[in-house]
Amino acid sequence: MTWNPGSWRTRPAKHQPTWPDRPALELAEKQLSMLPPLVFAGEARTLKTRLAAVADGRAFLLQAGDCAESFDGFGADAIRDKLRVILQMAVVLTYSSGVPAVKVGRIAGQFAKPRSSATETQDGTELPSFLGHMINDLPFSEGDRLPNPDRLLRAYNQSASTLNLLRAFTKGGFADLHRVQAWNQEFVASSAEGQRYTNLAQEIDRALRFMEAAGVSSFFNDTATTEIYTSHEALILQYEEALTRQDSLTGDWYNCSAHMVWIGERTRQLDGAHLEYFRGIKNPIGCKVGPDTTPEEILALCDALDPDHEAGRLTLISRMGADRVEESLPPLLEAVKKSGHPVVWACDPMHGNTFSAESGHKTRHLDDVTKEVAGFFHAHAQTGTWPGGIHVELTGDDVTECLGGSSDIHDADLGRRYETMCDPRLNARQSLDLAFRVAELLR
Ligand code: PEP
Ligand code: CO
Repeated sequence: MTWNPGSWRTRPAKHQPTWPDRPALELAEKQLSMLPPLVFAGEARTLKTRLAAVADGRAFLLQAGDCAESFDGFGADAIRDKLRVILQMAVVLTYSSGVPAVKVGRIAGQFAKPRSSATETQDGTELPSFLGHMINDLPFSEGDRLPNPDRLLRAYNQSASTLNLLRAFTKGGFADLHRVQAWNQEFVASSAEGQRYTNLAQEIDRALRFMEAAGVSSFFNDTATTEIYTSHEALILQYEEALTRQDSLTGDWYNCSAHMVWIGERTRQLDGAHLEYFRGIKNPIGCKVGPDTTPEEILALCDALDPDHEAGRLTLISRMGADRVEESLPPLLEAVKKSGHPVVWACDPMHGNTFSAESGHKTRHLDDVTKEVAGFFHAHAQTGTWPGGIHVELTGDDVTECLGGSSDIHDADLGRRYETMCDPRLNARQSLDLAFRVAELLR
């Protein structure tokens, strides 16, 4: 029963790579455990208070970013563009709903993926599946697909530079609310939702000028800087353990690789290694819940992960699929409400709505994404609970991975810029489109 950062090792862990070189893995773990933490425990605690406001219906969670971050083409522009979309979505949500948006990126650590099959076969050759850049590489060759522990260190280093740039952008002026117009990047601005955003940004500008002229702006929070937090699926437990540190102020253990970490739908077994690891860290945590989750199971998850009934500790991320959400979610909402666990409920409208297009691309349709969010809001309206947030996969790039949206991407367009390494992401326009649709639901 006693917990320590490595007690997960006594439990079965699903979706782990078969590391061919154990001594090399152990060396990487040792090196990681000596490196500085990426975040401070105090920051994770602040995020927990923000999420407590979400649990209480006083704020809205926007968790968004890549399905899988990449070591290739890693650079400042991609990070800036992703941040820009998240800032734009947050402005739309906040302005329409009147409650603050808590911004959490799937960023600076989202490098490992659970896969439906451990291996992939092409032309009679069977190799390990691509598991994310923290583990192996995408090209279909034996050398690329072999899990390599040096990648754990590279993931740490890329997370550190990404986080550094995010901090610079959010504290150094880029995210100043007075620049709300400037965030509307070129290919977005020319679209219908870009125009809609421009109109909203003009209203915000007027409001800011009014507050300054009236001398009220100094009573408001600082508009020049903003908060963005980092998160990822904590899948590879050796990496997470090595970055788990004891907070000198409180003596508590925190995962210092991100502010928030979550457990995926495939690794949330009650007696599994991931649950064992998560129960001992004090970060705010998430847990994905799919359409086959039973009320008994969700109560057991809540008891294991939030034994103290602490607001902001646990975010349940519902990923039911557009067709099943209205039937699957209400019994879970009822059960959790009755139990008194003050959880955040967020809607991941992506992972239950993936299908293969005729062109062979794995895709999602923005209409299904919106339909699931609407079903999620409807379910909450029925139980009298707060639809606390959304969890989406997006990029700031002008990719063609998901169908639909006002620029109406069709199956034949998918091949044009299909760049994801894993799941299809909303592009910047589709993301903004979704934010406006969610804002309407919030209103
Ligand atoms: C993901 O968030 O990328 C993911 C794999 O989700 P899920 O665990 O919900 O399938
Ligand atoms: Co995904």
